[in-house]
Amino acid sequence: MRQEAGEKTPILDTLEDYLSCNPVRMHVPFHTGIANNSIFPKGLYELDISEVSGYDVAGEDNPLFQSERITAQYFKVAHSFYLTGGASVGLLAALFALNKYGKKVIVSRNVHKSVINGLVLSGLEPVWLEVEFLNEWGIFSSVQLSVLKKCISEANDLAGCIIVSPTYEGVISDIKAISKICHERNVPLVVDEAHGAHLYFLEPGSQSSALKAQHSALKCGADLVIQSWHKSLGSLTQTGVLHLVNDAYFSYKDIKRSLDLVSSTSPSFLLLLSLELTRKKLAETQGCYFETLFKNVLLFKSELEKIDSLSICKNQDPLKVYLKSNNVSGINFAFELYKSFSVEVESANEIGLLMQIGVNFNDKVMNKVIESIKCIIGQWTLDKRQTTRKSQVPSPWLHYVCSPREAFLKGFHNKNMEYHTDVKAPCPPGYATSIPGMKIKELGDRR
Ligand SMILES: Cc1ncc(COP(=O)(O)O)c(C=O)c1O
Repeated sequence: MRQEAGEKTPILDTLEDYLSCNPVRMHVPFHTGIANNSIFPKGLYELDISEVSGYDVAGEDNPLFQSERITAQYFKVAHSFYLTGGASVGLLAALFALNKYGKKVIVSRNVHKSVINGLVLSGLEPVWLEVEFLNEWGIFSSVQLSVLKKCISEANDLAGCIIVSPTYEGVISDIKAISKICHERNVPLVVDEAHGAHLYFLEPGSQSSALKAQHSALKCGADLVIQSWHKSLGSLTQTGVLHLVNDAYFSYKDIKRSLDLVSSTSPSFLLLLSLELTRKKLAETQGCYFETLFKNVLLFKSELEKIDSLSICKNQDPLKVYLKSNNVSGINFAFELYKSFSVEVESANEIGLLMQIGVNFNDKVMNKVIESIKCIIGQWTLDKRQTTRKSQVPSPWLHYVCSPREAFLKGFHNKNMEYHTDVKAPCPPGYATSIPGMKIKELGDRR
């Protein structure tokens, strides 16, 4: 029953209806379905339309609304808003919506740049939730419950709490416990699950799960969950979903009006369609291909562990393989993998390198990567200089002079401030190195 509903495609149906009458196009976009290059397939231009007959219907009959509702039913949430500006736009909207409840928001130290941008735009003041930094890996750990409890009990006028799980490198926090702590204080919980949409398909107790617990924020009590479907479900780049999980704190209208503030009035139909078709595929297959993929990744990780001088990070996200070698920095490692073996990894830092598993991951890919890694490791002899390499340890956000919004606005006029006025957060991973309103000397970054 659920499967049948999840397979319905109101957006595709509207498009097909429209195209079936071979319409004379007297509307935007200017290309009117005619390609201006021979690179993109012709069909792509035909599908690239916006509000046309059948689509420009108001209210609940609108195919976009219907498609979103089917997605919501599939994921068992109150509503799923399609995003064509990535999870970034969903996070901006979520921060706007939090203004409903107060002026301050608990923000975990390792949030993505878009959350900091959201602070600037929404005017909310951050209460920083420090997250342990794992020096030996050069990455952030998970949210510590005792730190959150302290933070939440000391703050007042709290509008909400926003954390990221999984992190870019695949570290997952205990969302169930975190939501409990938040809700005991009547604080809504927003989870940036940009990297974790696939966790919904990681069933507790499944063989492929390294942990036997549920990880998906949708199942663990979060109130708003923002996902990048392009990162781990297979839709086109820049697509995501903001799930309004329940109506305890926010209504459909709260989120819709917040999203409208930051979204284009001409969302790409190609992107919307790509979200709908991704959900259709998930519904048809019940995401069963993930099970095979997750099992293969476990095998991959265990094979990598056997390689001398290689350490594999014990993160819990099955689609992220983060590793390091005693013999070579992550950056050199990644460079060599690409130069000599055409293996392009997701990213690298001084310590390690990150591989993102995608749908192409099969035995052939696995073996190629393992062989390439073995070859490189064999070539590099232990270099003392390499083993003492340091990660960039981020400073705690201590001295906060004014709100991110105020500092950003002052940055238009004043050049020599004692605090930062811009968001600096190299992507990836998008962790902030400076935040508007932070004292410059605290950050050890004098520009
Ligand atoms: C943790 C995290 N949140 C949010 C985003 C933004 O996602 P999107 O690229 O879909 O806008 C990213 C992007 O890499 C991210 O790493």
